[in-house]
Order: sequence, then C-alpha cells, then structure tokens
Amino acid sequence: ETFYLKDYTPFGFDVDSVELIFRLAPDTTRVLSKIHFTPKPDAADRTFFLHGEQLSLISARIDGAEVTPELTASGLTCDVPDQPFVWGAEVEINPQANTALEGLYMSNGMYCTQCEAEGFRKITYYPDRPDVMSTFSVRIEGDEKVMLSNGNPVDTGGGFAEWHDPWPKPAYLFALVAGDLVNHPDRFTTRSGKEVLLNIWVRPGDEHKCDFGMNALKKSMAWDEEVYGREYDLDVFNIVAVDDFNMGAMENKGLNIFNSSCVLASPETSTDSNFERIEAIIAHEYFHNWTGNRITCRDWFQLCLKEGLTVYRDAQFTADMRSAPVKRIEDAIDLRARQFPEDNGPLAHPVRPESFQEINNFYTATVYEKGAEVIGMLKRLVGDAAYYTAVDLYFDRHDGQACTIEDWIKVFEDSTGRDLQQFKTWYSQAGTPRLKVSETFADGTYTLTFRQSTPPTPGQDHKDPKVIPIAVGLLSAEGAELVPTTVLEMTQAEQSFSFEGLDAQPVPSILRDFSAPVILDRETSAQERAFLLAHDTDPFTRWEAGRELAKASRIAMVKDGASPDAAYLEALKTLVRDDTLDPAFRALVLSPPSESEIAQALADQGVTPDPDAIHDAAETFAQTLAQSLSDSLPRLFAATLVDGPYQPDAIGAGSRALNGRLLGLLTRIDGGEAAARQYEEADNMTVQNTALACLLKAEKGESQSRAFFEQWQDDRLVMDKWFALQVATARPERAPTVAAELTKHRLFTIKNPNRFRAVMGALSMNHAGFHQADGSGYRLLADQLIALDALNPQTTARMCTAFQTWKRYDDARQALMLAELERIKSTSGLSRDTNEMVSRILDA
Ligand code: ARG
Ligand code: ZN
Repeated sequence: ETFYLKDYTPFGFDVDSVELIFRLAPDTTRVLSKIHFTPKPDAADRTFFLHGEQLSLISARIDGAEVTPELTASGLTCDVPDQPFVWGAEVEINPQANTALEGLYMSNGMYCTQCEAEGFRKITYYPDRPDVMSTFSVRIEGDEKVMLSNGNPVDTGGGFAEWHDPWPKPAYLFALVAGDLVNHPDRFTTRSGKEVLLNIWVRPGDEHKCDFGMNALKKSMAWDEEVYGREYDLDVFNIVAVDDFNMGAMENKGLNIFNSSCVLASPETSTDSNFERIEAIIAHEYFHNWTGNRITCRDWFQLCLKEGLTVYRDAQFTADMRSAPVKRIEDAIDLRARQFPEDNGPLAHPVRPESFQEINNFYTATVYEKGAEVIGMLKRLVGDAAYYTAVDLYFDRHDGQACTIEDWIKVFEDSTGRDLQQFKTWYSQAGTPRLKVSETFADGTYTLTFRQSTPPTPGQDHKDPKVIPIAVGLLSAEGAELVPTTVLEMTQAEQSFSFEGLDAQPVPSILRDFSAPVILDRETSAQERAFLLAHDTDPFTRWEAGRELAKASRIAMVKDGASPDAAYLEALKTLVRDDTLDPAFRALVLSPPSESEIAQALADQGVTPDPDAIHDAAETFAQTLAQSLSDSLPRLFAATLVDGPYQPDAIGAGSRALNGRLLGLLTRIDGGEAAARQYEEADNMTVQNTALACLLKAEKGESQSRAFFEQWQDDRLVMDKWFALQVATARPERAPTVAAELTKHRLFTIKNPNRFRAVMGALSMNHAGFHQADGSGYRLLADQLIALDALNPQTTARMCTAFQTWKRYDDARQALMLAELERIKSTSGLSRDTNEMVSRILDA
C-alpha cells in the first residue's frame, strides 16, 4: 500500500484526553486505555478507525458498555455515538518478543518505547497520526525500581508510578521506561525563574558517563532561551540511555530516550568526535521540544518541518559552542557523503516526499540534512533579523498545532513580504542542482554567469529552476579581498552578475560557506585552486580549493596513471606547517576525499570507477605525502601532541585531529614505532583509538588489538569501536573475510543495532572491501540483511542503502549486486520496509 500527501483528510474526532494503565510483564503486558472522543461537527469523514498492530484485544467498551469492534491486521473500526464518548480497551502485548525495537520492547531487562513514527499502534488501539493531539495521564504498575513516562510525576508508591503530561501531543511522542536505573540529577532555572529537575537515567555501572551529557543539556537549554527565546515547559526533563535502539535518539515529551552511544561519554571510552556528536544530539532532541513537540507535523510527509529545522538549530548550536567554520566544513563533507548519493541515485526523493509505503524509510539525509540546508538558504536570503522575526511568528501563530511546510513558508512570506513560491521547489523537487560557472572580464567589469540544471530523478523528469543563494567574494591576484562576501540570488536557469570598477581580473571565491547544497561545476586551473587554498578568506571555500585539488590529482592518478600532483603536495606541506592556522582546519585539509567520493567523481565524468584502482591511488598518495614530509613529520607530530588532562573541547579536539592525521602519515614511514608508543601512553580514547587504527592499518596492531579487547570487553560502546576498526582498517581483499569472522565472534549479536552496524556498516564503508570483484562483500551483507530482516526491519531497510550506488560500477559488479538485491527481494516474508527499499533501488 502506498500513501500519498495529496490524500490527506483530517480525523473525524477530537481526542480530549487519554488515560493509560500499564501492567508490566515481560511477555504479557496489559495496556488499559480510556480515551475521550468528541465527534467533529463539520468533519467530512467520520469513520471511527483506530490503528492497532500485533495487539491482542482483551475487551473493548464504549461509555462502559462492552462492544465488539471489527478487527483487521492494521486496526479496528467500530460504531460509535454521535456525541462525546469514552473508548475503553484492554490489550495484551509482548515486549520481550519485540525485536523490531518499535512500540514497547525490552532492552537488557529494561522496558522502553520507540513510537515515532508509527509505533504507538503496537501499544494500544489509537488514532496513531501526528495531527491527533491530546493530553496523556499514565499509570505504570510493576515492580521495577524506576518507572517513567511523559510530563510531570503525579504520584508514586509501592508498585506504581503516575505521570501527567499537560501539553497536548501526538502519540508518537509517547514514552515509557521502566527498569533498574540510576540517575545523574541536576537542575536548571529557566530565565523566567522556573526550576526544572534534570535527570539522566542509566544502567548501574554507567553513572560515570553522564556528566558531559548533562552539561550539554544545560547549555542547550540556555542557548535555546538566548537565541530563539524558547523556554522549557515542564517540571522535569528526563533522559534515558538504552543499549538497543534503531536510531540516535528520540524527543518524547519530557522523556527523551537515547541510544546509549549518543549520550554516554567519558574521556577513557569516548573519542572527540563522540563528544561532539553527543553534544549535538542532546541539543537536537532538546530543541525538538519546541520544533517538533509544541509545534508538530500534520502528517509524516511534513517530517522535514520538524527535522530540517531542528537539525539546522543543532548545527547553529554546535557552531556557537565550537568552531563555526569547522562545523560548516564537516557538514558539507557529511552532506556529500550521505545526501548527494541519495539525491543522485534511485532513492532520490524530495525534502518533502509525496508518497511512501513505509515512513521509517524516509528518515533520510535528504529530509534531515538537506532539510536543514533549505532552512539555511532561507535564512541567508531573508537575512538574520528577518529570519528570527519569522520564526517568532511561527511559534506565536502555531503553538499547539500540527503544521505543514505551507504554514512554515507562510510565516516567512507574511513577515518579510517576499514571495517564496519559487523557493518552495526546494521542498518538492528532488535532485542536487549543478551549477555551471563561466566568467568574463572587460573594461573593469567582471561578470559571472551561472547556469543551473537538476538531473531527472525517479518519478520527476522535469525540474524547475531553483532559488539559489550564491555567496561570492573576489580576491586580487595578490590575495587581497576586493569584494567581500556578497550573496547573489539566482532565480533563473541562466543568470549573470557583474562587479564593476575593477582594475584587473579578480579571482572568484564561489559558494562561500557552502551557501547552497549544489554541485559547483567550474573549470579552473590547479594554480587558481592552489592560490585559493593559500589566500581565500572564507574557510569553507579555502578548504574546498584543497579538496578540489585532491580530487583532481586522485582522478588523474586513476584515469591516466599520473603521479601525485607535485604542486598539491607542496601546498599541503606548506599548510600543515603553518602554525597560524587552526589545527582543526589543517586536519580537515589533510583528510583525503573518501574513495566513494572519487568513485562518484569518476562516474560523473563518464568513467566506470574501479574500486581497487581508487584504493591504490589513495594509498600511493598518502605514502608519497608521508615520504615528502618525512624530514619534518616527527617534529610536527611531537609539536601537535596535546598535553595536560584530556578536555573534550573544540581546541583540544582540533589538535588531536591534526596529531592523528600526522600519526597516520608517520606510521607509513617509521614502521609503527610512534603509534605503538602513542598506544602505550594513551590516557584517553581519542588517542588510544587513533593509535590502534594506525597500527591496524599498517598490519602491526595485533598485540595492541588484543590488549584493547582485554581492556574493554565489558564496555559495549568501546567494543563497538573495536569491531568497527577491524573491518575499517582491513586491506580490501581481507575486509569481507574479517567482517564474516566477526559475525561469528562471541560478542557479536545481530539483535543489537549498534553492534550490527559496527561490523556491517564498516564493511559497506570500506569501499574497495565491500566492492571486491568476487562479490564476497555483497554476499555477506545480503546474508546478514536477510537474517536481520526477520528480527528488525527498520535497521535492515536502512542498511540496504549500501547498494544504492550499484549502477555506478562495471557490468560484472552490477550483475553481482543485482543478484544480491534480487535474492533479498525474493526472501519469503520480507518486511514492508526492506521490500520498499530494495524495490526502489532496483527500479530506477
Ligand atoms: N525524531 C527522532 C530524531 O530525529 C528520530 C526518530 C526516528 N525514528 C524512526 N523510527 N525512524 O531525533
Ligand atoms: Zn530529530
């Protein structure tokens, strides 16, 4: 069954309030519901349909009288009165048997829930749609030490706990947690003087990993007050860490539930990037309290309304807490690695999709990250002040409502007087626009001409020109900034912009700060790129110039058997030694483009990418760079070591990132001596993990890998790193075997999404390893996905994306991937989730 945006119809009833009682038992939990319905007087459709899946209905009542509803696999219908009535039902569910991790399930003996998007229907019969909002009162009965739900605590005693959430919410924000938990408490006073109790709840033994997350939460609360004027609105804010979780985290009202990997942190067990990610996800979930919870989505097609905006807000937060330029470059790298392949392949869909079979398949980089880019473009177009005025209007006008993208656009139109209808195509038309640039210079006038086009995507042949904010600056040949950053507003398919009064032809710096999620296509010389890498005043375009040089050199190596580009090597050497530059920036410049990115670049040029050749070129390049830096590497490495106690801040992280890059190079020439020393001396996970990675990559890390295992085998999150590292660092021809062996390891379990992703995700990201010509990588992943689908459709479907680029490769590899995709598709009892993903990947 396919659902369409155009088919939206409101529900025929209001839900005035919801009362739930949970009688907890691992395999026979009873859920008793009392739901107050009022028919809407002017509803066109008054069908009383309640969603419900995998529920055993014990009894149902209307106004206290037993009724016999008509049941199907997806819900029930029932005759109901024409006036307000109370629906009552008792159902039984089996949390213990719930391996899909959706609805109410058990993780390490602890009850927890995941209801977004459509999990509440696995808990009880309900109109499980985001535009049905109501207040919830919850009573939990059981002998668990801690029993939590949304909102404020009402009462608790022997064997029960009661909660009330005064804010109307859709069912997807419902949450319940019960188990043997300990808390890390704190408090926060809002700017209007309200005292809020904060708790992070964890399993005994994880208490020492809560401090960082708690600080991140307090910083998020203060930031949202300061920047968006948004205060918290309940007496308590609870966060719970859960080991078995399909996604990163969930913003349930007053009771956020986190994948433990996205909240637990300590210097000994977490890397700098873990810390940065945890800070961002805590902020993200907290920010949802306003963008998502107080104002929610009318239907799931509008998912980007809350996700794009909330990702944008968490990116602003990270930029403020850490380094704005570094965050912007990281986001561009991430968008290109995860969203561009989606937008340019068979899974392409608009930021606001128009149809789906399984909504869980649309929690994508397009909805989230491109959705955030769209907000960023809007802000750039209207300006900062107008942006915040419009967002204030959004909060005023729509608080308590379930909204659409039209509502969002309208507040900007109303508050700025701009017509944003053309801008709206960013939400409706999929695909990454390509921007071709040409230039002329005559009589002191410099003209840039842009031509935009977006290739067709599945189901969308025609693309209209988009509104593209292009941030541009002009530099003199001496490296002076002639024209500071200016935002050009492109609206047509082809458009020119002129700059007058120039003495000589300037050097343009285009798409500063990555001002739009587009592919810039401009023929330039290596000299000009090297010039920008040395002189550009905008950190993004400066870094980009280096990235373009790296790509060009790598492509020439693969295509023409060229040697690593000497001028580029020289530029890197200069940069790496330049102490005036932020170490984090230098680390980013030293990070090579991924092999998958090179494969895509080759494919774009009409060259069939050969994964082995791409891998060899990457190795040769790194080896050559290491050799050409050999005289200064030991000194540079020593100079970037961070001393003093570990602090997970941006400054320390930047230095460690640079130091780690240098260690990678050094390990190529010193036989692993420095890395082995580093491993011995490490007093934090960032350094320990980097040293081990360098050693494993050089195939010199066997004893350290064993030691690491011994040291950390009782820490699940660290063991995930150990599993992933083996696969990520394996030589391509060994990677499938290494991964296959790890799936037989006593600590491997297919039921834990983090562990599964550690191994299989790492395999799909080891480009040349996954694409081994004998098909062993494809076969292993397909075997594992088929096994996982029977237990956990959501994570299976998500990991099918490893195959989304299959058409890039040679006929032999295509045939092998096609065969595996067909094999998955023909699995009997395949989930709707996986079936939809595989079908889309195959169809285009
Ligand atoms: N709303 C959550 C977040 O972005 C993600 C929940 C996704 N759940 C899912 N089943 N797809 O923070
Ligand atoms: Zn979110």
